[in-house]
Amino acid sequence: MNFDRTLIITGGAGFIGSHVVRLFVNKYPNYRIINLDKLTYAGNLANLKDIEDKPNYRFVRMDICDFEGVLKLMQDEHVDGIIHLAAESHVDRSIKDPFTFAQTNVMGTLSLLQAAKIAWDSFEGKRFYHISTDEVYGALEMTNPEGVEPPFTTKASSGQHHLAYGEKFFTEDLKYQPHSPYSAAKASSDHFVRAFHDTYGLPTIVTNCSNNYGPYQFPEKLIPLFINNIRHRKPLPVYGKGENVRDWLYVEDHARAIDLIFHQGKTGETYNIGGFNEWKNIDIVKVLIKTTDRLLGRKEGEDMDLITYVTDRAGHDLRYAIDSTKLQKELGWEPSLQFEEGIEKTVRWYLDNQEWLDNVTSGDYQKYYEQMYAGR
Ligand code: NAD
Ligand code: TYD
Repeated sequence: MNFDRTLIITGGAGFIGSHVVRLFVNKYPNYRIINLDKLTYAGNLANLKDIEDKPNYRFVRMDICDFEGVLKLMQDEHVDGIIHLAAESHVDRSIKDPFTFAQTNVMGTLSLLQAAKIAWDSFEGKRFYHISTDEVYGALEMTNPEGVEPPFTTKASSGQHHLAYGEKFFTEDLKYQPHSPYSAAKASSDHFVRAFHDTYGLPTIVTNCSNNYGPYQFPEKLIPLFINNIRHRKPLPVYGKGENVRDWLYVEDHARAIDLIFHQGKTGETYNIGGFNEWKNIDIVKVLIKTTDRLLGRKEGEDMDLITYVTDRAGHDLRYAIDSTKLQKELGWEPSLQFEEGIEKTVRWYLDNQEWLDNVTSGDYQKYYEQMYAGR
């Protein structure tokens, strides 16, 4: 079968990557989509069960740090685009094990960049799209602890915006000031991507997105961890006073932005992605408890006593808030979901997919690959 394009999506077995792979495989049957993933603890092929037999999909188990392997794959498959999501992504793990974060996020990205530079004789029609995080900008001050209406509004149809907890927002021109080993490694990889654009003319794009939530997120992150704990009536470990602010975006809205930017974004540019949806952790936790209780047929709020304040995360960034005006104005992207709607969908998904959660928490999901690919 002839395809119009062949893309590598790295980290496609992870949380956001699986949504991006699914979107591209279904929306572009004329594209060959190669999911390149090492399958670390965070990679789970069960996230892609519904598309794994599609004729335009191929999975390759590979480490992005394997430069020779990546180069050969790019040459053999005539790859003309890379959407790079593979990374170590959990801040708490980065505090315990910074080396792995530097290795994967920095050296892995460099290996992909160098492979693309060599594999592509001409850069015409090629694209290297690097997915990054808003955490590279560091932390914002909380000048409005009670919250005020944000100065920017999304289009009326989306309805998504929540209170703003400060005057300042992350804009694309802001200085990078990462604090955690995770964000330092992502910042470093962003710099390498820009350096390859500026030095060699590689057609790169970088996007920095706020916190994502939705189905298939590994339950070490706040939202899936807490939904699972509420279900099992386990304590909910809220770091510090629960006053830290994060800006939340439904994962499918991020995937739609990636599709739009991959096709219509300008090379050499950076775009921030976010829905003006700031929440204090403690307020999210309360919404999660109420929603989960209601959907489980419990009395709404009866599990509030599971909230347990624990020692704060070292170097815990106070506030993240993305200004995505550039993306909204230049490319017409907007988030599609109200947060309450997205949270309801998300809680419902985790409750309906308890088997997925149990497999992930027990480690059984790691056997899926061995069974699937045994004898191939
Ligand atoms: P995730 O941890 O759920 O998935 C990461 C995937 O990368 C896994 O499938 C894992 O197996 C794979 N991987 C890890 N190391 C690899 C290596 N050396 N070689 C090949 N594959 C490897 O992460 P996520 O939350 O889906 O995040 C995806 C990307 O989006 C990351 O680059 C992250 O920095 C960025 N991001 C995440 C968020 C968020 O809220 N989760 C927000 C903004 C940006
Ligand atoms: P997390 O989902 O780890 O994302 P990130 O650190 O990349 O923002 O955490 C989101 C927020 O929730 C962050 O402020 C830390 C906090 N948090 C807790 O209070 N308890 C927890 O058990 C976890 C995992 C996170």
